[in-house]
Amino acid sequence: MGFARQLNWAVVLLASLTIVANGLRVEISLPEEKGLLHGKLDGRVVLMFAPNGTDPLDDIEVDSTPNHMFGKNIFDFSAGDTITLSGGSGDANATATGVYGFPLVSMDDLPPGLYRVQAFLNPYDRAERSDGSIVRVKFPCGDGAPQVNGVGSLVTAATDVEVMVGGEEGSAAGPQTISLTFDTVTPVASFAGSEIGRCEQGNYADTERLKYVKIRSAKLSAFWDRDMYVGATVLLPAGYDTADTATSRPAPKLILVRFRHEAPFYDDSYGVNTANLGPYGDALNDELIPYLDATFRTIAAPYGRIQEGGSTGGWISAASVIFRPDLFGACFSSYPDSLSFQKHQDIALYSNTNAYRNDDGTRIGSIRKFSGEHNDTETILATVEQENHWELVFGTSSRSSLQWDAWNAVFGAQGLNGSPLEPWDKVTGEVYPESVAYWKEMGMDMAEYIAANWKTPTRNLGEALRGRLFVYVGTHDDYYLNEGVAAFARRVNGPDLGGPGWANITVTPGAKHGGNYQRREIWNYLELVTGWVRDHGPAGATPLTATAVSPQNRGNRFDEDVMRVGGRAAALARQADPIVEIQGGGSRKCGGSRIVGTVGRWDPGVRLEAQWVVDGVASGKPFAVKQGDVVRYAASNTQMKEGFGVRLRVHGTKRNYEDETRESKVVMVMARR
Ligand SMILES: *[C@@H]1O[C@H](CO)[C@@H](O)[C@H](O)[C@H]1NC(C)=O
Ligand SMILES: *[C@@H]1O[C@H](CO)[C@@H](O)[C@H](O)[C@H]1NC(C)=O
Ligand SMILES: *[C@@H]1O[C@H](CO)[C@@H](O)[C@H](O)[C@H]1NC(C)=O
Ligand SMILES: *[C@@H]1O[C@H](CO)[C@@H](O)[C@H](O)[C@H]1NC(C)=O
Repeated sequence: MGFARQLNWAVVLLASLTIVANGLRVEISLPEEKGLLHGKLDGRVVLMFAPNGTDPLDDIEVDSTPNHMFGKNIFDFSAGDTITLSGGSGDANATATGVYGFPLVSMDDLPPGLYRVQAFLNPYDRAERSDGSIVRVKFPCGDGAPQVNGVGSLVTAATDVEVMVGGEEGSAAGPQTISLTFDTVTPVASFAGSEIGRCEQGNYADTERLKYVKIRSAKLSAFWDRDMYVGATVLLPAGYDTADTATSRPAPKLILVRFRHEAPFYDDSYGVNTANLGPYGDALNDELIPYLDATFRTIAAPYGRIQEGGSTGGWISAASVIFRPDLFGACFSSYPDSLSFQKHQDIALYSNTNAYRNDDGTRIGSIRKFSGEHNDTETILATVEQENHWELVFGTSSRSSLQWDAWNAVFGAQGLNGSPLEPWDKVTGEVYPESVAYWKEMGMDMAEYIAANWKTPTRNLGEALRGRLFVYVGTHDDYYLNEGVAAFARRVNGPDLGGPGWANITVTPGAKHGGNYQRREIWNYLELVTGWVRDHGPAGATPLTATAVSPQNRGNRFDEDVMRVGGRAAALARQADPIVEIQGGGSRKCGGSRIVGTVGRWDPGVRLEAQWVVDGVASGKPFAVKQGDVVRYAASNTQMKEGFGVRLRVHGTKRNYEDETRESKVVMVMARR
């Protein structure tokens, strides 16, 4: 973290300049005598200014919060230290080491008035993954991964303060400083139950029909080099009898299983193997499900396992069947997160140059509502830009534990900096197409994954998945998730693939986000599910075929499909140093040869500046280059006459990346005779 400390210092200098313009500073200290912290921690401090008389945690939602909030990353913080927040901006370094606020980016713009102020410090754990990458992130603690005030947070008392009109330099008022003190630590939730391991996925006390299961995942623990757990809440049917081994029951009874898989980056792992969260798909499917099969009297066959859920659960249910048709029978997926990134919510992710605005300048909505006599007046409650900026207060490098960041972590590759390789710049919205390409290449775009594996020498998804995917969404989905469903349907039910009805898609006019599949009443819905199981079992009208459940169709393999494309080794392999070479003729006559350089390969979004270095000395001004550029060195006649050594130095910067300088090897240009 040497770089980060250095940067911190640089930002403090900047901040002291902005104090002249306004002056509000907040100092938060942690007195040693409190004994709240031993050792050093990295984390994110979030400072909230709530309207007078309200609690800062009352409402922190993007579309309704009355608070002003500011976040800052903290490095090597120990008892006795003081954190200072002031100013703030969205430039590349400020989001990594300075202050970033929502809805106002800078504290300098905070309107004078009465506020109730409170600060929270969310500590990050340092983890070294089995692939050698170092990640600093909050690990699950059974608390639902809230974006602020999670388990282990250092918290100040909520304090009433008056923010004055900004003190001009030399004015009587002078710069205002608010002092706060961390004095509590948010405790682990207590629950009546038997706990194995640490706080993750706490096991509650069983009741007669509600059982709590939790296992240590060998695969996740090996990946993260620490004990990791996954759990399930299991609702047994009335009349369930552990001793009953009779096999000929008239109709299957449903055991309802809800996975508990709070993960690093979010309160839900999305149930698949990913480059940033680790092998959660394997943990749930190959470790937890066999355990459940051994513990309860399940039908341990694909036709007896139905995946269902809404929103995130809608995506998980669909992805689980699409990736593991050998394990699950069918999905009833309701208003799923985007099944096709042709529309990621309402962003045309493969074609837009910006995730916040379309080419015509319109802002892209993220949360909306419909009103008016016919519910046809659409109002945007939060734009994608607002929601991303709000997330950025709570965490940089996709660590806010909020939705857009969760998608970045689940769908994305790992960046060279160890964090999710974000698909766009979180401040400006500039899309990085190469980052987005990894989402597809790792198979996270369900439509494209199905298309790519429709019929290949190994996978035969066109045949295997026919009649097994049921998807429901309403045209008035609050988060525009109907757009991704429509794009998915166009692809898989299009003329090139399955044709109409290959996947069973229900789009209900006017329906919003929420409710059961097709808005069915619960018993009616469960009968639909049991009906599918009955029909597709060995004695049913349309049993699942051997092709349908062939292990060959298994996808999302952790090493081969995910880490090979998006893991640490892949991040290292996509880097390259600049190269300089002499091209052309071999003639040493002037003009007979050209000195050209390539700028190297860097992660998407790294901004580059190049400079020629001649005989060890920087020559001329640094100049902006882009990845893929080829640059030419124009040597002077004197240089050509006397000979010289030249190399290309390239400096790369990216938000949340360490600045890096790479140099080509020196190329010797011989003296012309
Ligand atoms: C601020 O809130 C307190 C309650 O916390 C209330 O007594 C007081 O009148 C409020 N002040 C103003 C100016 O609204
Ligand atoms: C970020 O900080 C580094 C190190 O202090 C500096 O070299 C670089 O110019 C800064 N970048 C921006 C965009 O301010
Ligand atoms: C409008 O939406 C509300 C809430 O979803 C619903 O109760 C009402 O029936 C809808 N009205 C019409 C005309 O669709
Ligand atoms: C789609 O599935 C629903 C049950 O969810 C069923 O009622 C409907 O007939 C199916 N549609 C087609 C075209 O098979």
